[in-house]
Amino acid sequence: MKKPACILITGASGSIGGALAREYAAPGVTLILHGRNQALLDALAVECEQRGASARVFGFDVRDTARLQAWARQVSAEMPLDLVIANAGMNIDIGAQGQGERWEDVEALLDTNVRAVLALVDAVLPVMRARRSGQIALVSSLAAYFGLPVTPSYCASKAAIKAYGEGLRGWLATEGIRVNVVMPGYVESPMCESMPGPKPFQVTAARAASLIRLGLQKNQARISFPFPLNLGTWFLAVLPAGVSTRIVRWLGYGG
Ligand SMILES: NC(=O)c1ccc[n+]([C@@H]2O[C@H](COP(=O)([O-])OP(=O)(O)OC[C@H]3O[C@@H](n4cnc5c(N)ncnc54)[C@H](OP(=O)(O)O)[C@@H]3O)[C@@H](O)[C@H]2O)c1
Repeated sequence: MKKPACILITGASGSIGGALAREYAAPGVTLILHGRNQALLDALAVECEQRGASARVFGFDVRDTARLQAWARQVSAEMPLDLVIANAGMNIDIGAQGQGERWEDVEALLDTNVRAVLALVDAVLPVMRARRSGQIALVSSLAAYFGLPVTPSYCASKAAIKAYGEGLRGWLATEGIRVNVVMPGYVESPMCESMPGPKPFQVTAARAASLIRLGLQKNQARISFPFPLNLGTWFLAVLPAGVSTRIVRWLGYGG
């Protein structure tokens, strides 16, 4: 498979997005790096350029879907996007005392993790379909397999992205567009740090980026890792839900 030469990454100012940018940075590669933290984006662009890539940075909030779509359409029209990685995301939880998620936070999470991802895909698809080529990676999570009591909205958002990506992949395969669902386990990052519960088999962001790149190169439908946690969370989805709930409580994700 041809190596992607023009790559758009949302959430590039974060751990996984930044590691992906570094992973792909090489001579002949153009990186479109998005986030909110301009200083981090600028520093990342310098690092990527030192590795031989050309990098452009864009800072804005993806919850502004009108702006997100206008930007994505403009970038798509200016250069052929070979790979779009919808990675920007956030997490909330029910709190240390199980007090619950605030509705404003749930709305922000759904707007960021779900609405913005679908808006981005909607904006880049027309040019990809006209070209009959391109690849879209949607960053979900192993948390999509079974709703954890400590993070119900986050799990719901990632389950939505998993189902959306699976559907898109089936729809667009005949048009030459590859769609991949990325399902990481625990990856070192500020977001992971703030998550409640144990974090078994945690990997570095650099390791995650390398596994994601390999999976995208092979056009795997589901890029899920690490293996033991992937198997465990997959089992949670196929076991009777009552049994899975007892297991996740026993493991420390009960809230
Ligand atoms: N770390 C894990 O264990 C883990 C596991 C499974 C899946 N994931 C998924 O991987 C993705 C990246 O997470 P990460 O671990 O790298 O977290 P992170 O270091 O906290 O990075 C999150 C990124 O998303 C951006 N972002 C968040 N809300 C945004 C908004 N409203 N508008 C624009 N950008 C926004 C952040 O931008 P700024 O920082 O510039 O504001 C940052 O670049 C997320 O979708 C997450 O759900 C992570």
